[in-house]
Amino acid sequence: MTELRFEGRVAIITGAGGGLGRSHALELARRGAQILVNDLGGALDGSGSSVTAAQHVVDEITALGGVAAPNHDSVSTPEGGQAIVQAAIDAFGRVDVLVNNAGILRDKAFHKMDTAMIDSVIDVHLKGAFYVGQPAFRLMREQGYGRIVNTSSASGLFGNFGQANYGAAKAGLAGLTRVLALEGAGHGIKVNAIAPIASTRMTQDILGELAVRVSPDSVSPLVAYLAHEECSVNGHVYSVAGGRIARILVAETEGVVLAENTPEAIVAQLGVIDELTADGFHEPLSLDDETTIIAKALAEVS
Ligand SMILES: NC(=O)c1ccc[n+]([C@@H]2O[C@H](COP(=O)([O-])OP(=O)(O)OC[C@H]3O[C@@H](n4cnc5c(N)ncnc54)[C@H](O)[C@@H]3O)[C@@H](O)[C@H]2O)c1
Repeated sequence: MTELRFEGRVAIITGAGGGLGRSHALELARRGAQILVNDLGGALDGSGSSVTAAQHVVDEITALGGVAAPNHDSVSTPEGGQAIVQAAIDAFGRVDVLVNNAGILRDKAFHKMDTAMIDSVIDVHLKGAFYVGQPAFRLMREQGYGRIVNTSSASGLFGNFGQANYGAAKAGLAGLTRVLALEGAGHGIKVNAIAPIASTRMTQDILGELAVRVSPDSVSPLVAYLAHEECSVNGHVYSVAGGRIARILVAETEGVVLAENTPEAIVAQLGVIDELTADGFHEPLSLDDETTIIAKALAEVS
């Protein structure tokens, strides 16, 4: 198979000063992309900032013979997002790829979580994807080409104790991915998401024996594929860790149309409503798909 190359392509990778973002930046740079390495350079909880993280990765890319420029703006404000996209334009003249990767953690049980913990995490993960995504998406629409890769998480898609702020933001990113996939489809733009597990500072205390098997490097080949012109999927979310890749579905059971629509009938039918059989489920790819499924089910009993 032909090597997937990125010559002439410009990629913005947010939070690329370490962990997964650094790995994505190196993978795309090795394959010929010009990289805007964005990173605020703060601590895991979002506090502080430093210019060294992004610069260090730029130096690594340059040492490999690649092309990269640093940027230290925060994704968590509209001005920061605009400045990040402008930095890519100033350095390389265009934007073909955006990898929304920047992230922080402020874990706490829901009943103890304060407003700052809620706001800061949603601002970086979810609003950050809007703030960098909007100016990038506008450029992509104009040029009729673009690839966006969002970073969701099993925490939001499946649930994880103590991460209400983070999980909600990450589930929001999956929703954003689905909407932008539809809005970009007519303009040569494809938008997909990953839900990675990788050994980084974010997970250093929780992965146990799995840590050695799930390097950040093992996630980046999928990001490279989703960022490439050859990418044939749109609106998909993939679980990715240590070379294992699986598509995460948003599906629904066949369901029932109740003859008598009462809470008591729901109690009686709950087993059937919840039952997932091998061929008895739907995977709507849009709200339109979902309304079509509902209309068909209702028509069948009327
Ligand atoms: N490591 C995992 O197992 C895992 C699992 C699921 C999702 N993720 C997601 O992957 C992404 C990368 O995480 P990681 O594990 O590499 O952690 P990491 O802490 O090494 O990387 C996150 C980077 O984002 C940067 N950043 C934070 N706030 C920023 C801001 N406002 N603007 C710009 N940059 C900012 C940080 O400085 C850091 O370099 C995150 O979105 C994270 O939520 C990671």
